[in-house]
Amino acid sequence: MYRSHSCGELRESHIGKTVTLSGWVAKTRDKGFVVWVDLRDRYGITQLVLDEDRTSKELLEQARNLGREFVIQIKGEVIERTSKNANIPTGNIEVLVSELTILNESKTPPFTIENETDGGEDLRMKYRYLDIRRNPVKNNLIFRSKVTMEVRKFLSGEGFIEVETPYLIKSTPEGARDFVVPSRMNEGQFYALPQSPQTFKQLLMVGGMDKYFQIVKCFRDEDLRADRQPEFTQIDCEMAFVEQEDILNVFENLTKYLLKEVNGVEIESFPRMTYDDAMAKYGNDKPDIRFGMEFAELNSVAQHKEFGVFNSAELVVGIAVPSAASYTRKELDALVNWVKRPQVGANGMVYVKCNEDGSFKSTVDKFYDQDDLTKWAEATGAKPGDLICVLSGDANKTRTQLSALRMEMATRLGLRKPNEFAPLWVVDFPLLELDEETGHYHAMHHPFTSPKPGQLELLDTDPGAVRANAYDLVLNGNEIGGGSIRIHDKDMQATMFKHLGFTPEEAKAQFGFLMDAFQYGAPPHGGLAFGLDRLVAILGGQETIRDFIAFPKNNSGRDVMIDAPAPIDNAQLKELNLKLDIQE
Ligand code: AMO
Repeated sequence: MYRSHSCGELRESHIGKTVTLSGWVAKTRDKGFVVWVDLRDRYGITQLVLDEDRTSKELLEQARNLGREFVIQIKGEVIERTSKNANIPTGNIEVLVSELTILNESKTPPFTIENETDGGEDLRMKYRYLDIRRNPVKNNLIFRSKVTMEVRKFLSGEGFIEVETPYLIKSTPEGARDFVVPSRMNEGQFYALPQSPQTFKQLLMVGGMDKYFQIVKCFRDEDLRADRQPEFTQIDCEMAFVEQEDILNVFENLTKYLLKEVNGVEIESFPRMTYDDAMAKYGNDKPDIRFGMEFAELNSVAQHKEFGVFNSAELVVGIAVPSAASYTRKELDALVNWVKRPQVGANGMVYVKCNEDGSFKSTVDKFYDQDDLTKWAEATGAKPGDLICVLSGDANKTRTQLSALRMEMATRLGLRKPNEFAPLWVVDFPLLELDEETGHYHAMHHPFTSPKPGQLELLDTDPGAVRANAYDLVLNGNEIGGGSIRIHDKDMQATMFKHLGFTPEEAKAQFGFLMDAFQYGAPPHGGLAFGLDRLVAILGGQETIRDFIAFPKNNSGRDVMIDAPAPIDNAQLKELNLKLDIQE
């Protein structure tokens, strides 16, 4: 028996008991006549004690020579500590060691295995197995497991069946590039790893599975960010014989259940906002609504004077930043430079200080008098002490820029509180999105999403105006899930492919299997997928999903621990019929 108790378990009630513990040496403190060892396992830390009076010389010497991260087993008696440590649950006791076995030695770890470590990100990723011994990482993985268990519990309670779908498939169009896998047995042919199980879950509906879910890995070759990994996990769901309302209800209930079980937070019902409103009020289709600073369009109160910048702009739009009128000139200049950074891309920013005495001081006093600025303050809801920030230009770009400023100011003002949860549904997404580079429309969600009833005709005349039965669940400014009601009619699906620029031959080659299936009694269906990594990170009060993934990739898509991706040898390439030198 390696252990009778864990290292997080012993309390004063165990005093007098003989116990066996196994774990890693976190720390030894040698005072000469007494040696303390902090023994760590997944459950906590227990202090071991050995001293000249009560321990044999050999044993004391053995303890003295223990290195950090040695794996040991000890036997001993639980005793009361003289100087107690209120910071850890086992802090009232220690174990007086009578036997000590070294189960394995360890090299000195390259960084300290403490809550606050001296190891940088790269080093910690290279030795991720050591990083996982640290509480912040370990606790995140335990948290993820809890969320995942609760998801399974809830969905199976609602009658959902978990079905696995294949990983070696054909391209699924979710908008990213595919990762491909060469087939040895089929020369010159490739599988694609699924960007999502989208087509398979629709086929399961044709198969009569009715309520499907899967906690599933998805693979997307796209640029990486804090909330994006090349392989990530979805809680993927689909239901048959449902309308949008049914789906929103089930998954609102799932989210409420998780918030309650995991965070102890109760939320009555989730607000809903149309895509158009979200863009107009927040410049963003995933608005963080934990704080105000809603956009106010100022065209009507700012385009009547001689200020050419505003007069020539498609949109003049502002926000009132609370309590920022006290910013110094230097701070304000820095803010203007912040919006002018290429990452934000504004040409400049007009600002108005709302003074405590009710007067205004702006960067455009030359053009606008106090009456004009009063109107701006009314429109933005600015109070004395606030700072009105105004951007102008092309409507879409300006909204995006102001959204970036809004989020930045909220962060600076501490308004994005990690323990406050503000979910909302964004609904009525456009069906199509214009690709500025190619001038072509592509599906905003994916090509299987159905247009709203009666809007099909618009596809020919005004494709950008067509709205879809598509929805996103947004939590604290993050898109944690998205889905839609699908097309279940073969002809409508063919029309959609045509509008997306597929020739009938291309559509058949890529999605013939789905179109065929639709000829055999496809039920009306729809669904959604949550990003599990994002959901877990946000419920955990953070936004970097890497911290909630056991073995994540870095921003270049590399696993620095196993050093992947890596070249493969010639023999393997030959077997796969792949040649290295690509000729253009
Ligand atoms: P979508 O593409 O919106 O929909 O993806 C669903 C959710 O998955 C998460 N997500 C990601 N998380 C981490 N890293 C990534 N690279 C990444 N990409 C997406 C997001 C997102 O909301 N098949 C459809 C769902 C459906 O229609 O039912 C789909 O995949 O949280």
